[in-house]
Amino acid sequence: MKKKFKVSKPKGKLGVLIPGISGAVSTTFIAGILAKKKGVGELFGSLSQMGSIRIGKRTENKTPLIKDLLPLAEIEDIEFFGWDVYNDNCYNACLKSGVLTKDQIELIKDELEEIQPQKAVFDKKFAANLKGKNIKREKNLFKLANELIDEINLFKEKNNIKRLVMVWCGSTEIFLKIKKVHKTISSFEKGLKNNDPDISPSMIYAYAALKCGSAYANGAPNLSVDIPALINLSIKNKVPICGKDFKTGQTLMKTILAPGIKSRLLGLNGWFSTNILGNRDGEVLDNPKNFKTKEESKLSVLDHIFQPDLYPDLYGDFYHKVRINYYPPRGDEKEAWDNIDIFGWLGYPMQIKVNFLCRDSILAAPIVLDLVIFMDLAQRSGMVGIQEWMSFYFKSPMYGDNLYPEHDLFIQSMKLKNTLRILAGEKTIDHSGLDYYYD
Ligand SMILES: NC(=O)c1ccc[n+]([C@@H]2O[C@H](COP(=O)([O-])OP(=O)(O)OC[C@H]3O[C@@H](n4cnc5c(N)ncnc54)[C@H](O)[C@@H]3O)[C@@H](O)[C@H]2O)c1
Repeated sequence: MKKKFKVSKPKGKLGVLIPGISGAVSTTFIAGILAKKKGVGELFGSLSQMGSIRIGKRTENKTPLIKDLLPLAEIEDIEFFGWDVYNDNCYNACLKSGVLTKDQIELIKDELEEIQPQKAVFDKKFAANLKGKNIKREKNLFKLANELIDEINLFKEKNNIKRLVMVWCGSTEIFLKIKKVHKTISSFEKGLKNNDPDISPSMIYAYAALKCGSAYANGAPNLSVDIPALINLSIKNKVPICGKDFKTGQTLMKTILAPGIKSRLLGLNGWFSTNILGNRDGEVLDNPKNFKTKEESKLSVLDHIFQPDLYPDLYGDFYHKVRINYYPPRGDEKEAWDNIDIFGWLGYPMQIKVNFLCRDSILAAPIVLDLVIFMDLAQRSGMVGIQEWMSFYFKSPMYGDNLYPEHDLFIQSMKLKNTLRILAGEKTIDHSGLDYYYD
């Protein structure tokens, strides 16, 4: 690779823009950051805060923290701004989402209460199960986009914000295919002015972010920034983008297990995955049109990891089913079951059962933080367009033309760490280890 990256220092405040700021993931993320700022919480699960990275040869014993190797934004410099269909401030929203205990929330009550959502760009057509009324009204989508741009600029000015990252933490929108209106910047802008029905709210937020020079990460599986018009705009406006769909819970487990099964060339007859969850996300996904978007995102993972075209005898004919059932008593404490039918030597069948009792937003919050920190780093390093090294965090990673997505968590982790080494001006590590024996 010929390109050299020069990383500038993170001077001043970093604005974090969140569509869906009253949701479970957003409020858990924000509460965590506020708790850390106040010294009453630790940011477990975050690579940018706790992860170390090997530099040079194993014999050199150099494993600094990532945040000591590279100039990352400080937690103290983060400020929040966001929009939601419901107008609860972050304190009330955090209580309602039921992820954190009341005792913990009370410790940061004053700070949470200060964060009030702006009116949302929203159309019920894209998430019919939401009933909130905190919604902007304008003649056309272009005006809505401009209203978002004005709000972002005002937030920046008022709070002396130097850099911006937007993370879509809004609900999963209904399944959409790429159409003509999504193809070029001008067709998209024309579509905004004509109220094109194929432009979803998340695309309008992404457009506004890119127009304001803000990096953009998409935590949900809907297209949002993953359309040619907005990918082109991100390159034109020199901002990094990434997505889609935070890789937490069941899919995280899948992309840990599947590469292991594949690397030992064990065959697969079937993988049945089912979930129960009872939060608002579960309620939105209870609508088949919204579930379709999630299903596509969850299903694509195994095909890419197992490569059935390369291994037809092992993976040419496996059955893969994913179910999500809305079950209110569980709230955010999702339970996932996987039944995996594999086969080995001479075709003898075996089974693996996984029962993951997880907490969705507890797993998603550190991902949001890492995306904020690394997308800001990317922006300061002159990285633009799709950031494939962020695949580590997503169920459906965005990827460049003529490529395929990389789903294997271990390859994704190497990709991320090697990119960090490159940004730090260090050598990448290929892990062959042969130089210890033959050099
Ligand atoms: N929690 C996880 O582990 C996880 C994993 C992968 C993806 N996700 C995705 O992250 C997103 C957030 O998850 P969550 O559990 O916080 O859901 P949630 O339902 O608690 O929060 C989503 C919030 O977005 C708001 N919203 C919807 N459309 C909006 C719009 N157009 N503008 C502004 N606000 C809008 C809703 O009112 C809601 O408050 C969902 O799309 C979910 O599918 C979550």
